[in-house]
Amino acid sequence: MSSLASKQGPRYRHTTGEAEPFETIGVEKLTPIIGAEISGVDIAKLVSDESRSNRQMDEIHRALAENLVIFFRDQHITPAQHLAFGRKFGELHIHPAAPHEGDDPALMKIHADKDSPRANGEGWHTDVSCDVEPPMGSILYIRQCPPRGGDTLFASMYAAYESLSDRMKAYLDGLTALHDGEQIYRGLYDNYGVADKPAYPRAEHPIVRTHPVTAKKALYVNRGFTRYIVGIPRDESDAMLDYLCQHAENPLFQCRFRWTENAIAFWDNRCTQHRAMWDYWPHTRSGTRVTVKGERPV
Ligand code: SIN
Repeated sequence: MSSLASKQGPRYRHTTGEAEPFETIGVEKLTPIIGAEISGVDIAKLVSDESRSNRQMDEIHRALAENLVIFFRDQHITPAQHLAFGRKFGELHIHPAAPHEGDDPALMKIHADKDSPRANGEGWHTDVSCDVEPPMGSILYIRQCPPRGGDTLFASMYAAYESLSDRMKAYLDGLTALHDGEQIYRGLYDNYGVADKPAYPRAEHPIVRTHPVTAKKALYVNRGFTRYIVGIPRDESDAMLDYLCQHAENPLFQCRFRWTENAIAFWDNRCTQHRAMWDYWPHTRSGTRVTVKGERPV
């Protein structure tokens, strides 16, 4: 028996109340913990039809809050409709480093092909957590898929927090950590001819944040951006961050989305991490991302 096996029941017990049914959309959960495919929504129509959109928009908001990441397949939207869908959830966020497609800096380019030196989001991260006000959510539209592979993994940071021991929760209470974009972003987009900025964002955030909509607590550290825990010795911080990041990456808290052309993933950055798989070289995977502004984590 592996040392990870337990005789005390599951490592994480996920509990939710009785979910209210949805009336204007279909919601098919990928796992009990995170992720749901949404059906019955035509985003091109939703963004142009004000009267029809309100009930459906309310239910999309609720599906996101309940499932943390939601997926829509077979959506045929223009860049303007992608941007308009994002604006229905708030003001759009401009990425501090990444290239954009077309004229609007809010339409971030996501692309990898046989000549790419890298692909976006290959390590576990929360989008731009180095911003003082990190994005609330990200809406990724993949138009071109490889024949196989290119999945995206998502992990629930509610589950990561809830499954910590009470002693660990007490230790983390009130601690903050420094998130820094410098090591990530400097030189990252050289291949697109993007000139570096003089400086990239950095911000101190609570290690455990409370979600403004659900009021649930989520672990808020990630390998991409979190550099150190403030106010404790550096060796203790390194060991603790290593443990917390490894814990957050437990497959128990995850779902995995297999893309099809013209699918959309919409994730809540306040309670998830994600990681994209670049296992499809030399094929091409291509799309755009619209990111919605968020609030200062508390
Ligand atoms: C990202 O981190 O936004 C990229 C995710 C993906 O390409 O699946």
